[in-house]
Amino acid sequence: MVPGDSLCLAHLETIRALEPAVAENLPMLLPIDKAWQPTDYLPNLQAEDWREQIESFRQPAQSVSDELLVILVGDMVTEEALPSYSVSLNELARDTTGDGPAPWARWLRGWTAEENRHGDLLNAYLRLTGRVDMRAVEVTIHHLIANGFNPKSYPDPYNGLVYTSFQERATRISHGNAGKIVGRQGDANLSRICLKIAGDEARHEAFYTRMMGLVMDRDPEGGILAFRNMIRGLIAMPGRLMYDGKDPDLFDHFAIVAQRLDVYTVRDYASIIQHLVRTWNIASRIVTGKAAQAQNYLCSKAESYARFADEIAATLETQPRTAFTWIHNRKA
Ligand SMILES: [Fe+2]
Ligand SMILES: [Fe+2]
Repeated sequence: MVPGDSLCLAHLETIRALEPAVAENLPMLLPIDKAWQPTDYLPNLQAEDWREQIESFRQPAQSVSDELLVILVGDMVTEEALPSYSVSLNELARDTTGDGPAPWARWLRGWTAEENRHGDLLNAYLRLTGRVDMRAVEVTIHHLIANGFNPKSYPDPYNGLVYTSFQERATRISHGNAGKIVGRQGDANLSRICLKIAGDEARHEAFYTRMMGLVMDRDPEGGILAFRNMIRGLIAMPGRLMYDGKDPDLFDHFAIVAQRLDVYTVRDYASIIQHLVRTWNIASRIVTGKAAQAQNYLCSKAESYARFADEIAATLETQPRTAFTWIHNRKA
């Protein structure tokens, strides 16, 4: 597909035609007066006993393992690169003024505002607990935002919806797993924080998956081809271009730790493909030609990935541990 060609314009038209459905689903964003804020999960620095509150916040954080700290930092820098994701989602919203009243534009701003709390809260946790080298972390955020983010979705707006459906589920899984593990390690505050963030990701996932489901209903051929195109290349992770100024393979090293700890694994990747194939009823869509081939590809890919996942997982688990600047060059 080429930007501006008739197919691309037709896809943009389908996305625009979803506006009534987007408007109807805007309540999937929390009303701001009911939304949680980072402060709700942090020590109250205005209280008289602020010293005690900080102390009791820092104490359980001592039990969080180095590997988990690496996961938290990787997740946090990924969340902190939110400006890049807003830019890329404007491909769907097409908001030329920045404060447009159209439903897609309102969704994009509301989504950004909810996501903004994720990086803020994890950032505050890591800073207050003193468990990581915050300057190294900040350098990583600086690099990541400067390097940008390419979800490989341009110019097909359908790709953007496939990407966000996949990615929100991936972040939901990863924050959720991190929350469970730190809970077992003894930090209940952090567990609550991770699970709260995972809850937001679940709502966002539901929205994007629903919108892409509507695309599949209206244009099954185009939708299935877009899904196949996104799966054929690997779904690029949003934090892929993270760099701390030292380790050129920082993202890969982070991903290996996530795999080893069962926070986000190849098996999860496979399960997301399987979930989307089922949720979007790929197998039962009536399509012909190239789209029918893509349909077969998607249905068999989901299964073959799941089989292959254990093999890849076994290889990754044997990777050597690497030093991370985030944890003062200790290995994880
Ligand atoms: Fe997030
Ligand atoms: Fe998200």
